[in-house]
Amino acid sequence: MRKPRVGRVVLATCVGSFFLLIFYFQSNLKPAADQDGREGRRPGRSPLQALYDSDQLELSPVHVLHQRRRELLEEECHAHTRKRRVLIPEDLKHLIVDDQHRLLYCYVPKVACTNWKRVLMVLTGGGRYGDPLQIPAHEAHVPGRLRSLSEYSTAEINRRLRTYLKFVFVREPLERLVSAYRNKFTRSYNTAFHKRYGTKIVRRHRPDPRPEALDRGDDVSFREFVYYLVDPRTQREEPFNEHWERVHALCHPCLIHYDLVGKYETLEQDSSYVLRLAGAEPEVRFPASGKSARTTGDMAAKFFDDISPFYQRKLYNLYRMDFLLFNYSVPAYLRIR
Ligand SMILES: *[C@@H]1O[C@H](CO)[C@@H](O)[C@H](O)[C@H]1NC(C)=O
Repeated sequence: MRKPRVGRVVLATCVGSFFLLIFYFQSNLKPAADQDGREGRRPGRSPLQALYDSDQLELSPVHVLHQRRRELLEEECHAHTRKRRVLIPEDLKHLIVDDQHRLLYCYVPKVACTNWKRVLMVLTGGGRYGDPLQIPAHEAHVPGRLRSLSEYSTAEINRRLRTYLKFVFVREPLERLVSAYRNKFTRSYNTAFHKRYGTKIVRRHRPDPRPEALDRGDDVSFREFVYYLVDPRTQREEPFNEHWERVHALCHPCLIHYDLVGKYETLEQDSSYVLRLAGAEPEVRFPASGKSARTTGDMAAKFFDDISPFYQRKLYNLYRMDFLLFNYSVPAYLRIR
């Protein structure tokens, strides 16, 4: 879909040792002779089996909900992806591996990914960590603390893709975007983002900027941020930063058949479901969050007051795949028709 990806594929191919094509087939686990309808995991059963092997006569509402999300994702992928391609290790950088519980988690920044990384550190830590919240947030993001699927050999990648429970957490795309903007551009401590992106945004998208603004890049408005995102030069020069990159591009949901799609809007229930399937609850619990999806929605509406319908439409088109794939409807506050 995007130009830079083609470039990277070619580059990766030229590097030679990176010439790996990953084929894997969706595991079609037949419901085994297992009449225990609980969705929790019994010893010896993998979370993937726990998810697909449940008693067909007694499907719980949560089971049905996730099945419908999976089906919808597959239908939308089918409807909107023209060409299929093979996965390369580069595509798997966001997939975190938990070999103990046989889980693969694709992390998406601004969708509770710090807490999910903390939980995975607890799950893979072999008793090193207690409560997830005792792990400082920056610790959870230190490279190397958790293993990425891209680090493994092709055979090892394929085995994990086939037999592990693959899950991703998503969020209403524009709320996620507003959250990224607020976190990276309105907090004085995020100087790295101000320098790296803010100065460029001010230079390109503000008429007559003051010299201090050009130098510091710490007062980018949401409107300027939107101009930056929809400017074709931005993605021609480099891929989006992961905080505003689309889930579609970070996690490849049409190439990797996720077994479970969690949503920020139902974070608590969905996280608990994953942990139950993994047989990790109640020993490990997902940290409770104080924020409600309702307030973040109202906040997003305010930010878009300042954006003209023309740019609202452009921005929607940019994030359109994330809306379609994960069944988010066009927010009522957008004036794009
Ligand atoms: C998709 O969204 C609509 C409207 O919000 C909802 O009624 C429907 O149940 C959702 N479908 C799935 C599979 O989540």
